[in-house]
Amino acid sequence: MKILVVGGGGREHALCWKIAQSPLVAKIYAAPGNGGTDLEDKTVNVDISATDIDKLLAFAKTEKIDLTVVGPEDPLSMGIVDAFEAEGLKAFGPNGDAAQLEASKAFAKEIMISAGIPTAAYGEFTELAPAKAYVMKQGAPIVVKADGLAAGKGVTVAKTVDEAMSALDEIFLDNAFGEAGSKVVIEEFLDGEEASYLAFTDGVTVLPMVSSQDHKPAYNNDEGPNTGGMGAYSPAPVVTDELFQYATEKIAYPLIQTMAAQGITFKGIIYAGLMVTKNGTKVLEFNARFGDPETQPVLSRLKSDIVPVFLACTDQTLDKVEIEWDENPTVCVVMASGGYPKSYEKGYAIEGIAEADKLEGVKVFHAGTATVDGKTVNTGGRVLGVTACGEGLEETIKLAYEAVEKISWKDLHFRTDIGAKALKRLS
Ligand code: AMP
Ligand code: GLY
Repeated sequence: MKILVVGGGGREHALCWKIAQSPLVAKIYAAPGNGGTDLEDKTVNVDISATDIDKLLAFAKTEKIDLTVVGPEDPLSMGIVDAFEAEGLKAFGPNGDAAQLEASKAFAKEIMISAGIPTAAYGEFTELAPAKAYVMKQGAPIVVKADGLAAGKGVTVAKTVDEAMSALDEIFLDNAFGEAGSKVVIEEFLDGEEASYLAFTDGVTVLPMVSSQDHKPAYNNDEGPNTGGMGAYSPAPVVTDELFQYATEKIAYPLIQTMAAQGITFKGIIYAGLMVTKNGTKVLEFNARFGDPETQPVLSRLKSDIVPVFLACTDQTLDKVEIEWDENPTVCVVMASGGYPKSYEKGYAIEGIAEADKLEGVKVFHAGTATVDGKTVNTGGRVLGVTACGEGLEETIKLAYEAVEKISWKDLHFRTDIGAKALKRLS
C-alpha cells in the first residue's frame, strides 16, 4: 500500500514511524512532514501544506494513494475527508461535520449535554456585554474559551474577574482570534488532575488506546504559559481501570451514539481531555485527532500493526479488530526552541540526535525540524520529542533524560519533571 500522512509535527513523525512498521505498506508520503519523517523508513516528504486540500487530493490521485491519514485539526475541520471520499479515496479521520466536535467548543458542549457526558457548567455568548455580566455573576476563577480553532491559544484560565474581562476584551474588541472568537464559551473552573483518553472509532465501535498525560505549561511544576504540550507519558496512573472503563462506556460511546442520532458518523480518533476532580471526572474538551505529544508515547506502546486499525475505522469493521499493547511505560520529553511558546530564533544546527537514538529503547521524534545542507535545524517551537520505552516508570524517565542530555542546540529548553506527577502517585 501507499500511504499519505498529512501534517508535519511530532505526532505525524510518530505516525509515519508506526505505519512504516506495517508489512502492508510499501511507501509513505508525509505532507509536508519534517526533518525526521524524511529520514524514516519507507518515507519521503512532499512539499504540500497540510491545509492545501486541492493539492493533497491531486497528489493522492496521481500517486494512487491507498490510504490518507490526517494528523492535524485544521484540514479535518475544513473537510479534507469529505473531499477525498467524494473522489473515492480512503481517508482516516472525521468528516467536516464530525470534526466540529473540536472546531466548535459550543457544539461540543451541546453534544455533551445531550449525551449526558459530565462537563463544566457554562454559558455561551456572541456579545461582550452579556459575557461580562455572566463573569460578574459567576466570579473567579473562571475559564474563557474562544469557540473556534485557535491553535491551543484560545483558552484563558482566569484567576481573577479582571483577567477574565481582559480575555473577553481581547476576543471581542481586539479580535485576537478572528472568526474563531465570534463566539465564546465561559465555563466553571474545574480543579483536579488532567489526563488524555484516546480511542479509535468507526462511528459504531470504540477501541480505546492506553491512557496518557500531557504537560501543557511551559515550565516545571506546571508553571508558566500554556504550550502545545511539553511532554507526555503512558499510562497515566490517575486513570484507574475503573475510570478507563467509565471513559469508554459513559463518554466515548454516548458521544458517538448521540452524534449518530444527529446524522453525524464520527470515524477516526476521539480524544477526550479529562479532568479528574474530587466530584468525579469531567470532560474539558474533545479533540477529533491524535494528541501531540501523547501520540509519541502511546503509539510507542502499540504492538499491533496500526494500518488494519485505520482501515477498519474507514470501512466500519472495527468490531472485528483487537489490538495489543506493551505493558511497559513510555515517556516523551519535548525539547523546545528558546523562548517558546513566545517568539524564538530558528535555524540553529541540532547536535546529538543520532547518539540519543542509539540508546536502547529510545526514539527521537522530530517536530519543528528541517534538513538544511545535510544538517538538522530547528524550525518550530516544539522541536523534538525524545521518547523512551523502559521497564518501570522511574527507569524510563531516567532513560528519556539520558537521551535528552545528548542533544544540544542554541537556547533550547525542556521541562525536567516530565512524569513526576505519575511517580508521586505511584509511590
Ligand atoms: P482546552 O483547549 O479546552 O483543553 O483547554 C486548554 C487547557 O485549559 C486544558 O488543558 C486545561 O489545563 C485548561 N482548562 C480548560 N478548561 C478548564 C476548566 N473548565 N477548568 C480548569 N482548567 C481548564
Ligand atoms: N496535547 C494536546 C493536544 O494535542 O491538543
